[in-house]
Amino acid sequence: MSATSCETQQIITLYSDLALNPHKDFGWDKGIENARNQGYKEEWIEQLPVGLWDYCAAVGNPFLLGEFPIGSTVLDLGCGAGVDVCVAAMLVGESAKVIGVDITPLMVETARRHAQEAKLYNIQILEATLESLPLEDNSIDIIISNGAITLTSSKEKVFAEAFRVLRGGGKLYFVDMIKRSDIEVSACCAQDSWADCVAGTLEEGCLLAQITGAGFSDAQCMGHTGYTTSASTIGATFRAVKKG
Ligand SMILES: C[S@@+](CC[C@H](N)C(=O)[O-])C[C@H]1O[C@@H](n2cnc3c(N)ncnc32)[C@H](O)[C@@H]1O
Repeated sequence: MSATSCETQQIITLYSDLALNPHKDFGWDKGIENARNQGYKEEWIEQLPVGLWDYCAAVGNPFLLGEFPIGSTVLDLGCGAGVDVCVAAMLVGESAKVIGVDITPLMVETARRHAQEAKLYNIQILEATLESLPLEDNSIDIIISNGAITLTSSKEKVFAEAFRVLRGGGKLYFVDMIKRSDIEVSACCAQDSWADCVAGTLEEGCLLAQITGAGFSDAQCMGHTGYTTSASTIGATFRAVKKG
């Protein structure tokens, strides 16, 4: 199943609304309590501008999935308002570059503003699609993503692009919504929203097959995050490596 151009427009409309109205109730968890529930450290919450956390639409915590050594170049796929790029920039240090990519122009603007407010000048935010990254081959050490890959028009293309831009030995740590395999999915699925991370979700095995199909090794689902967007979905964490 792929997002149509109409669904992509719905995504841009929804996330523009979030960029403009961070306190609005969209029907899914976000904000500072969501960050705390997903295990974002208090020291990060204290060090970054308080307003940044209002926008935290994390469906899990990619920073629990592995090390972020000082000096690593990090790429965040679907960076939204910039919470994870700011955390990554603090972890890898000011000598290292952190790049965020997002399709929604107002989110790009918001993430750039947050990076400036946080005085994290090693962050670069690019307006682009995850299916076609404006980045060189073998240029990134760690790719993270949080609640964005599920929204894309072609997950195969996103994983192929992630594989292309990662250096040999580079890591993919991401969190996303998946379809629960333990419950019967009803016919009402047809009306489920793509933009709210419901209709585009895949089952764990299908997602792992796509990651492996793109060339990654050791692809694993590390567990569930407790985040939900409907009765049929659950947040899940994934890890894989591009063998060097
Ligand atoms: C649920 S939000 C998550 C934002 C952020 N990662 C966070 O944790 O707060 C999903 C983000 O993915 C972006 N997005 C969705 N589809 C995309 C695509 N095809 N290419 C680039 N960005 C995309 C949206 O614009 C939105 O900002």
